[in-house]
Order: sequence, then C-alpha cells, then structure tokens
Amino acid sequence: MKGKFITFEGCEGVGKSTQIRLLQAYMDERGIEYYMTREPGGSSISEQIRAVILDGKNAEMTDECEALLYSASRVQLLSEVIKPRLDAGELVFCDRYVDSSLAYQGYARGLGVEFVERINDYALREFTPDLTVFLDLDPSKAFMRKGGADKTDRLEQSGMSFHEKVYKGYKELSKKYANRYLVIDASGSKMQTHHKIISALKEKGVF
Ligand code: TMP
Repeated sequence: MKGKFITFEGCEGVGKSTQIRLLQAYMDERGIEYYMTREPGGSSISEQIRAVILDGKNAEMTDECEALLYSASRVQLLSEVIKPRLDAGELVFCDRYVDSSLAYQGYARGLGVEFVERINDYALREFTPDLTVFLDLDPSKAFMRKGGADKTDRLEQSGMSFHEKVYKGYKELSKKYANRYLVIDASGSKMQTHHKIISALKEKGVF
C-alpha cells in the first residue's frame, strides 16, 4: 500500500467526532487532500450491516454475531473503499477500525482478544494502520465533563463499568501496538486537544 492509513479511536464521549471535524477543517483550509471514512459503515453494503448491528429490534443478537458483523463490514469497506485509495497513494482516515473491535468486543464484551484477532486477520495483517490516534480520556471523566446524566446517552445505557473495560482495553492496545499508537491526552479543552493532534501528525510527517 502506497498511501497512508490513519485511524481514530477512543471511548464514547471523549470528543472524537469534534476532533475529526476540526482536523478536516484544518486540512481543508490548507488544501491537504485526504479521504475520510468511518466504521461501521463507509460503503453501501457496510452501512447496511451497520443498520443491522445498531437496530434496537435485534436485541437477541449474540456477541459473537455482532463481532462477526463488524468484521464483515470492515472487510467490505477495505476492499471497496480503503484498498483502492491506498493503492492510489491517498491519505485515508477512518473513524474507528479494528482496535474498536479489540477494545469493545475483545476486552469489554469478553470475547477475548484472540477470537477478535482471528476474525479480523485480514484487516490486521494486510491493512495495519500506519498510525492510530487514540483520544485518551477516562470515560468517567468524559461523562462528568458532559455534565452528568442524559437518559438517552449510550454512556449511561451500557453502564459505566462496560466503558471502563473498553478504556482498559485501549490502554493495553496502546502498549501492545506502541509503534503505531499516538496517545493524545484529551482531558483539556477541545482546542488544546486539536493542537496536540496536529503537532503529533506533523511530527510523524503526515503533513
Ligand atoms: P461511534 O459513536 O464512534 O459512531 O461508534 C459506534 C459504536 O460502535 C460505538 O459504540 C463503538 C462500536 N463499535 C464496536 O463496538 N466495535 C467495532 O468494531 C466498531 C467499529 C464500533
């Protein structure tokens, strides 16, 4: 792959979407060319799989089925969108990727990292990200920052202990894959975090 592949990871409520928007504005202002996609989704088939995963009517879906659907959506996105762009030398960003499966399904849902690695072998082996921007903020702090209870918020729906497990998972992954992880302290203001991301990406020669 000739292009650069950069992924974004983090627990819910850490401001990932805001940071991606700020980064896009930064690159747009400077005429930096890139392609931004997201998981689960990013292609017609993958978006249909996303709808199945997120459909509230599918409450009886097993954890294994959910993990396999995430990896199916991923393989499709890789073949249809990411691979051709990387082959053409493009700079490709993805909002969440295989580390989300490792942290959420592997660590937090308890399926085990080995199982999740196995079903994501293609993504891990052939399309390891060049860099993974991890927005590092403990979910309980993120929750406090948002001002506490919101009945519709997923943070509350899934329970804080689940999100703490996701966070611990990410911390493990950041050690295991230290060569590609850019750990960004996201406890400050959104502009502070934005500047940290920009300097880290500049330091790595992304732009
Ligand atoms: P989002 O809020 O960043 O769009 O994330 C969508 C949800 O999907 C979030 O709760 C994390 C979850 N997810 C997984 O559990 N495993 C995965 O592999 C991916 C890509 C997302």
